[in-house]
Amino acid sequence: MTYLKQFALILILIVSSFGLAIAQNARIKIDTDRTIGDVSPLIYGNFVEHLGRCVYGGIYDPDSPKADERGFRTDVLDAVKGLNVSITRYPGGNFVSNYHWLDGVGPKEERKTRMELAWHRLEPNLFGTNEFIEFAKEIDTAPYFAVNMGTGTIEEAQQWVEYCNIESGPYYAELRKHHGYPEPHNIKYWSLGNEMDGFWQMGHLNAEDYSKKAREAAKLMRLTDPSIKLIAAGSSNYRPWADPDGWNSAILSELKDVVDYIALHIYVGNPDDNYYNFMSTPQVMDQRTQIVKGMIAREMRTADREGRDPIYIAWDEYNVWYRARRGESARGERALEEKYNLEDALVIAGFLNVFVRNADVVKMANMAQLVNVIAPIFTNEEDMFKQTIYFPLQLFANHVKGTSLDVFVDCETYDTDEDFNIGLGELTTTQTEVPYLDVSATYDNGEVTICVVNRHRDQAITTDIISQTGEFTGNMEIYEVNGPDIKSMNDFDKTTVETKQKEDIKAKGDKVTYSFPPHSFTLIKGRVK
Ligand code: AHR
Repeated sequence: MTYLKQFALILILIVSSFGLAIAQNARIKIDTDRTIGDVSPLIYGNFVEHLGRCVYGGIYDPDSPKADERGFRTDVLDAVKGLNVSITRYPGGNFVSNYHWLDGVGPKEERKTRMELAWHRLEPNLFGTNEFIEFAKEIDTAPYFAVNMGTGTIEEAQQWVEYCNIESGPYYAELRKHHGYPEPHNIKYWSLGNEMDGFWQMGHLNAEDYSKKAREAAKLMRLTDPSIKLIAAGSSNYRPWADPDGWNSAILSELKDVVDYIALHIYVGNPDDNYYNFMSTPQVMDQRTQIVKGMIAREMRTADREGRDPIYIAWDEYNVWYRARRGESARGERALEEKYNLEDALVIAGFLNVFVRNADVVKMANMAQLVNVIAPIFTNEEDMFKQTIYFPLQLFANHVKGTSLDVFVDCETYDTDEDFNIGLGELTTTQTEVPYLDVSATYDNGEVTICVVNRHRDQAITTDIISQTGEFTGNMEIYEVNGPDIKSMNDFDKTTVETKQKEDIKAKGDKVTYSFPPHSFTLIKGRVK
């Protein structure tokens, strides 16, 4: 053998053994018998607060040439409908803690303009309960109202339920009819205040005082309409939410017989521009979910719930929010106008995976918020565009349903920096063994839907998707959210990040191999027989 041939042979051996080392595919195993729980349609909720341009200049803009006869922006309505929003929280947020609902009903010319103290603007009250209900009907969403537990009274909360849910007879039910709404609005979901643990909240309370006030408000509200579902204000993002002696634990113990959900909030960000740290933040949400699930389980052992379901978790505010957080960007008419990029969209896909993977306990979630304010839809006076975070939410809300499956995932992992900032300055975490592939899956009448975030910035991950109960059959549809770069953004005149439907895969047998591109979210829809 010549030297040249020997050299070529050695080279082939080296390359092929290296090839073998890297050719170890990742694995996702789907077993339709290993179930977690039913995915609640209410995890595809959203949130409309009187804040910045969410209401005025967002969903409601009577002076716009694009407004319909009720003042709703028709281009915004179309985009909102694409999100299939199952439930919409209203009217706040921090706003609600000094909001008096009577200000927002009745003839518009008689409504009073108020100082809005949470976000520093004037509140004209031209949009209130009945306008919101019309909007909710138009987009086919369940309304979810938050009552004022700050400067409001328990009596005021009771009167709002009466106004909305009682057909006729008492004063406030008749007032609604007098305002032009003969039928009750039948609002099923009511939260007992917002982030009442926060020092910034108008009328902030400690856990003991909040529990007392919430319990009495709940009593009056349920005496008015026994069919309503009540949500307790759990710990906001800023507080020691996992502390065994802290807010969540205390209010669960006090309100365990009373409420149907505990509300949790999370906002994350990438203030240090560290992609991999940021990509791990859905894991933080997962851990918080597990901890609160444990607290609920402990309280349910001694709760007196008269046959009602256990308390569930409502992540009723979640999003990426770290740029428009301080100073002028967080107040006034243009508050919280965060612009999103691809990495933000991947984190949102990760959050949605967390809701599905915890389908037994997370029964509601609301992206904060719907339009302009930390939102998937962004407007100016003439136009609108869909931000990057619109696309994973749209895919989930339109495809992911049925039973959540307990998926086995085998892939490479990474560790984050120690004590990195999750986006809010004072909150830090260290995450270990973060899988590059973040996965959830559901099963619905023979259909399997698999959602995969490939967190790897630079590498595609070739993956064997294995069915353990039956064979894949027919074509598999593939939808991908991706863009040229993790910092890619959309704008009024450019859509760089969006959903693309890829070529179907022909599925046969119990294994399909797919390569998930770097920094992507992929939804695969197939059938198992
Ligand atoms: O969604 C923006 C704000 O974030 C809400 O008003 C408040 O509840 C939270 O702190």
